[in-house]
Amino acid sequence: MLNRPEKRNCMSPTLNNEMLEVLDAVALDAEARVMVLTGAGEAFTAGMDLKEFFRDTDSMSRAQRDIVQRSAFEWQGPRLRQLPVTTIAMVNGFCFGGGFLPLSSCDLAVTADDALFGLSEVNWGIIPGGNVPHAVIQTMNLRDAMYYSITGETFDGRKAAEMGLVNESVPRERLLARVLEIAELMKSKNPAIVRGTKETIRHLRTMGWSEGENYINAKFAEAQYTDTEQGRSKGLTQFLDEKSIRPGLEGYRR
Ligand code: COA
Repeated sequence: MLNRPEKRNCMSPTLNNEMLEVLDAVALDAEARVMVLTGAGEAFTAGMDLKEFFRDTDSMSRAQRDIVQRSAFEWQGPRLRQLPVTTIAMVNGFCFGGGFLPLSSCDLAVTADDALFGLSEVNWGIIPGGNVPHAVIQTMNLRDAMYYSITGETFDGRKAAEMGLVNESVPRERLLARVLEIAELMKSKNPAIVRGTKETIRHLRTMGWSEGENYINAKFAEAQYTDTEQGRSKGLTQFLDEKSIRPGLEGYRR
């Protein structure tokens, strides 16, 4: 949980350093299957901290600023994307600017209908930085990405779902229950196969057809190797021999 409600969970250098530690702890936890990223209070996150991340770093040397930026972009981008467990952004309120990066880095996203989103950088005179444009074009279509980036207009959770920026938008009182439902479903799946699948889906977006096919084949073999519970063999036995499951409709018994 991004936990600076009094500052609408905007992301300061301290918060960014702490998030690197949190993500390491989740990755190291052998029992962890799902991570939900959300915000305390009325915001998911109001984006980067305009004081501590921007104004206070103006007087720093380029090298010092690079270090401050690195911890932010590292957890919001690659470290969150590479987390071995399923990640769900639970957007409980304001999501502005830099908040689009962790939002897009999570595997799934569910929002409250009345949450408010905005690419507000233009409203205070900067270009969206820190790979936000990249995150945006990977999760929004070009027209919406362009419109909201150059106008800075806000949109609500329903609109975010309609655009495909999030998987679902639900009434605020259903938000936690719906996210926990998805988390429970993911906990019932084979973790090695889920990891291989999410990595494949994520990386294929930037690959061409033939290197993609080659990558899928390699990930396919990797998943068989890392799957200690031998899911494929159980699934085939339960369907073909025991006729006790129909994989089109349900998962195999683990
Ligand atoms: N950076 C630094 N401080 C921020 C912040 C941010 N991104 N977002 C909110 N805060 C701080 C405010 O300065 C205020 O601090 P204070 O109580 O010490 O004065 C506190 O959080 C509460 O913010 P406030 O504006 O009073 O709350 P609100 O509920 O009326 O409005 C927002 C919430 C999110 C709409 C508004 O704070 C806002 O526009 N924030 C900036 C969002 C933004 O453009 N982010 C993009 C960064 S790239």
